[in-house]
Parts: sequence; C-alpha cells; structure tokens
Amino acid sequence: MLSRIDVITLFPDWVEGLKSLGLTGKALASGQVELKTWNPRDFTSDVHRSVDDRPYGGGPGMVMRPEPLARAIEAASSAGSPARVACLSPQGRKLDQAGVLELVQQQRLILVCGRYEGIDQRVLDELIDDEWSIGDYVLSGGEPAAAVMIDAVVRQIPGVLGHERSAIEDSFADGLLDCPHFTRPENWRGHAVPEVLTSGDHGRISQWRRAQALHRTRRLRPDLWSERTLDSEDQDALAAWSQEFS
Ligand code: ADE
Repeated sequence: MLSRIDVITLFPDWVEGLKSLGLTGKALASGQVELKTWNPRDFTSDVHRSVDDRPYGGGPGMVMRPEPLARAIEAASSAGSPARVACLSPQGRKLDQAGVLELVQQQRLILVCGRYEGIDQRVLDELIDDEWSIGDYVLSGGEPAAAVMIDAVVRQIPGVLGHERSAIEDSFADGLLDCPHFTRPENWRGHAVPEVLTSGDHGRISQWRRAQALHRTRRLRPDLWSERTLDSEDQDALAAWSQEFS
C-alpha cells in the first residue's frame, strides 16, 4: 500500500498546496502518506541554474534538460525504498479508476512533472517506468495532472476518508457512475427527496441506489455500459425501478 509520494517539479507550490486541502490534504500533512518535492533547479551546476534548452532540429518551445531532471529523480530514488517512477504527459496511459487502484498498490511513487515542450526522450527511456495522462488535452505542465493523480490515489488509502465505505461506493469503483445524493431539507424549492430514501427500508434503498447507478451509466456513459454484463441482481434492480426512469 502506498506510503510515500515524491514529486519532481519546477513548481513545488503546486504540490505542497495539496497538504492544506481537505481530507486528502490532512493525510498528506499528517504524514499518513509522506509527500516530498524535488526541484530539478536544485540539481543544476551552471551559474544560471538552467533547466531547459532549445530542441535539436529546431522548432518552437524549450525542452527540459536531461541532467538536472535525471539527478533529481535519482536523488528521490535513493532517498528511500524502491519506487515506481511515473511521468505525467499527454502521451501517457489514460488515468482511470483501475489505474488509480494499480498505483495505490505501489509502496512508493515518484511522479515526474514535465514543463515546456517536453522532457528529453533519453530521460524517459532511461529513468521512467510509465507515463500517465489525465485526458486528451494539453496542460502547461504535469503539475495539475500530478495533483489530480495524488488526490485520486491518496483517497484510496485505508483510513484517509472519514467514512470507510465512501471510496468503495465512489463513482467508477464498480465501473459505474455514482447514484444521486440528497440531504435536508426533505423538500427544497418544491422538489421532494425520492420517497424511498426516507422509507428506512435499507434493502429498498440499496436496490434503488444500484438501479440509479446502472441507469445513469447506461444513459450518460455508453462506453462504460457496453463493457458490462448485468448479473441477475442488477437486472432485478433495473426492473424494480424501471418506472422511475420512464
Ligand atoms: N502534461 C501536459 N498535459 C498533460 C495531460 N493531459 N495529462 C498529464 N500530463 C500532462
């Protein structure tokens, strides 16, 4: 289970800020999961402390120089037990909940945030185990993507969320979207909470929630839906609540 995350970044504030935000922040600030940042600029040896250079072959933008980046990764690697080294980039495997659950099984993660036009390919080839993307769009750097990944993995660590079932019942935990949620007042601006939720009948409530999750997924995410085979309980749940959906 994950106990330590190191982040290689030119903008440590992006990541350090996570320590002050919410339940995952509390876990990071309290050391329940250790979070440490390493700045490649601290591993330069020239007077300008330069971390980027022009691309061979010409073209716009700058490329992160290999040596400061490699030294920062190596310093992080040698500062503890063996770690999986992951780079955030648009070329990477698309992060989803299955990926999050894989990552949280690692004891240690080193996340490398690229900036500028990219990272020298030789660093990727020599020092990076895998690349992850958070979606098909281009960010100015890997930091926001690392922040997303950190939040998603840390909340899966037992004891981090207040309510142990929250992570299990999350959207995607079972390949489904989450069901709708309601809180007081029972009637808000003329809209009542679904009757079943105030019935006190826990069997009906959990069947309703399951049916809602199934129905939402079928309606909103046909890509997820097409991968499912419905077991008899799910078929019963959908059938029992089919009038709600019509
Ligand atoms: N760096 C730039 N764009 C990114 C993306 N979409 N995902 C992960 N890292 C990135």
